[in-house]
Amino acid sequence: MKISIIGAGNVGGTAAMRLAQEGIGDIFLIDIAKGLAQGKAFDLDDARPILKHHYHITGTEDFAAVKDSEIVVVTAGLARKPGMTREDLLNKNAAILKSICLDLKKLSPKAILIIVTNPLDIMTYLALKVTGFKANRVIGMGVSLDAARFANLISQELKVSSADVEAMVIGGHGEGMLPLARFSNIKGVALDEFIGEDKINELVQRTFDRGKEIVSLLGSGSAFYAPSAAIAQMVKIIAKDEKRTIGACAYLNGEYGLEDLCIGVPVRLGNNGIEEIIKLDLNKQETEALLKAADQIKEQYKNLTI
Ligand code: NAI
Ligand code: 2OP
Repeated sequence: MKISIIGAGNVGGTAAMRLAQEGIGDIFLIDIAKGLAQGKAFDLDDARPILKHHYHITGTEDFAAVKDSEIVVVTAGLARKPGMTREDLLNKNAAILKSICLDLKKLSPKAILIIVTNPLDIMTYLALKVTGFKANRVIGMGVSLDAARFANLISQELKVSSADVEAMVIGGHGEGMLPLARFSNIKGVALDEFIGEDKINELVQRTFDRGKEIVSLLGSGSAFYAPSAAIAQMVKIIAKDEKRTIGACAYLNGEYGLEDLCIGVPVRLGNNGIEEIIKLDLNKQETEALLKAADQIKEQYKNLTI
């Protein structure tokens, strides 16, 4: 299997390492920054004798290397710099994504795309529209990371194994994020059997703030260890046709009463990409929150100037 990662920065480089160690396929790491992808690929290669792994990894500035990839992960983009508004960032990353997607359409017309670049929900929608790929083949990674963060915080609070925690997050990867306590449990036992509403609300808020908390602690750049793990998880599910249910930013066409937008919902993933959108039985309050998140995302579409 040929897997390409566009953008060899913190997220792309670490995702390459995780995928290489999983041994799922040949990895092509591509970045416009001179030498960056090749340098990281050499460094990863040098670890093979120590790790006793036999992966193949290539790093390059030449976008043509993406040709005939089966899975392409897009992490290329800019981080927000001082003085730059959200809209500036949106349109700078939109321009990068658009040019990448136009090339992908020509060079890897059968690929499944995993979009990571922020603002995630907008970039996933843009990738879908620019490539014209079917909606099952354009997937955004965002809420599975948020769910991992929620599960981790729950496991710490309850002092239980994180492997036993099932956490559900839907909505936007950002302001419209909806960690759903009612659909989260520990081996089937509801969260509110363990902790009260105030504690649950505190964990929801901490999940919501986790990305920002990491950014302020790091001082420069944003999270990449958990994001790269979430990318590798998605790639593995698709490559091995595992048919797992996981949160992903997916195109909705009537599901949840929402049309023509990409937003985080649970999906079944397999080697056809998104094979099913899973419908949660949301209550009135949860439905209203999802509709609000959808409105926020659609509002941002209007700020796209490309
Ligand atoms: P980074 O700045 O370390 O890496 C970005 C890389 O993209 C740079 O090396 C840059 O040279 C490259 N790039 C820019 N234009 C390109 C092009 N046209 N072709 C190829 N490469 C290009 O940033 P980092 O930390 O890796 O984050 C990448 C993106 O992922 C950001 O937009 C970030 O906000 C987003 N992100 C999303 C997450 C999610 O859950 N969806 C989680 C973490 C990060
Ligand atoms: C995060 O949630 C920046 O989207 C990234 O950490």
